Amino acid sequence: MAVDIVIDMRDIVKSYKVRKNNGWSDASRPARPCIPGRSDASRPARPRIPGRSDASRPARPERFFALDSVSLSIRRGEVFGLLGSNGAGKTTLIKIMAGLLEADGGTGTVLGHDIYKEHKTIRGMVSLVAPTADIGTDNNLTVRQNLEFWAVVYDLEKSRRQDRINEMLDFLNLRQYENHWPMSISAGNRQKLAIARSLLVRNPILFLDEPTVKLDAKGAEAVRELVKKINREFGTTVILTTHYIFEAEELCGRAAIMHKGKIVSCETVERLRHSLRKYDELTVACDNMNAGTLEAVRALPYVAGCEPSDHGIVIQTHGLREHFIEILKLLRGRGVSVSGVETNEPTLEDIFVDAIWSSASGPSGGGER
Ligand SMILES: Nc1ncnc2c1ncn2[C@@H]1O[C@H](COP(=O)(O)OP(=O)(O)OP(=O)(O)O)[C@@H](O)[C@H]1O
Ligand SMILES: [Mg+2]
Repeated sequence: MAVDIVIDMRDIVKSYKVRKNNGWSDASRPARPCIPGRSDASRPARPRIPGRSDASRPARPERFFALDSVSLSIRRGEVFGLLGSNGAGKTTLIKIMAGLLEADGGTGTVLGHDIYKEHKTIRGMVSLVAPTADIGTDNNLTVRQNLEFWAVVYDLEKSRRQDRINEMLDFLNLRQYENHWPMSISAGNRQKLAIARSLLVRNPILFLDEPTVKLDAKGAEAVRELVKKINREFGTTVILTTHYIFEAEELCGRAAIMHKGKIVSCETVERLRHSLRKYDELTVACDNMNAGTLEAVRALPYVAGCEPSDHGIVIQTHGLREHFIEILKLLRGRGVSVSGVETNEPTLEDIFVDAIWSSASGPSGGGER
């Protein structure tokens, strides 16, 4: 069966104009003296800096490339993560996919609609929760009134509004706060309110830009559980950005690592580990190890390396979980007495750092031109 692709981006480029003020802040910039009756034409030329010709003045870069030839496909029903350091281009990409920002180049479709010609249609078919989720929340309205306001904005049928609002209040565990002012509830619950707002209309795609930023551990955990629930119960495709790598590991089936406007890796978390040659490690504390057994372990097709250590051996392998028992059986079968084992699988954090480092030595992307 063909995979159902809901978002398809090819070679997306997006640049922003670079604005520089040479160190002056507007407030501290002295006003130019204005001599009454003198026009700009008669104004004397600006004083020259001795020794510096116009030719030696560094040319001002015109544009900053926030996205440089970004391609990716997202499948219906998946939770997809966008990872990357500050300024990597995650929000810019999300805005383009949500129909809020026009790309400079490349092609793309969202739910089959062209990102240039049909961005208004796209906007009506996707939901986006920005990191500054409080922006859409009116502090002079209660939690319920906020949802009522947004139900009108989203043009939800009048007869269905109250039912949908009640459903969302229950779904997000906000019922107890329905008559509270937003400023009197916790940041986590305000974030939930922003998510509730975006779920009033049941759009097939939900973008969450840093959904747990600024939340404490408990609030962040609640939002993560919510993301799983939205994906599981409504079948919503969720695309989220995060700085927390463990969060991507917990929530996402696949993740793209962005760096300076480029995607440097896009894989399942499992395959990311493999493609970046990060092995799982199994340390076995044992006696009776001999050269023959070492060779037998090395000969296993899934073992990348096996070296003796102080108290036994260290084995590097792919897919440790599947082969763990097999390796121990082989050792026991050869008379090795195992007194302890320790496993060490690389985290997405290791992979992220690796990807950034290897991309730094690869083709440069994102930056001034
Ligand atoms: N409106 C804008 N005008 C000029 N430059 C911009 C604008 N928006 C973003 N940029 C620049 O584009 C680059 C990518 O920004 P973007 O917000 O997409 O990154 P990000 O990965 O979301 O970062 P963060 O993790 O900090 O949210 C940054 O260098 C940023 O300064
Ligand atoms: Mg961002």
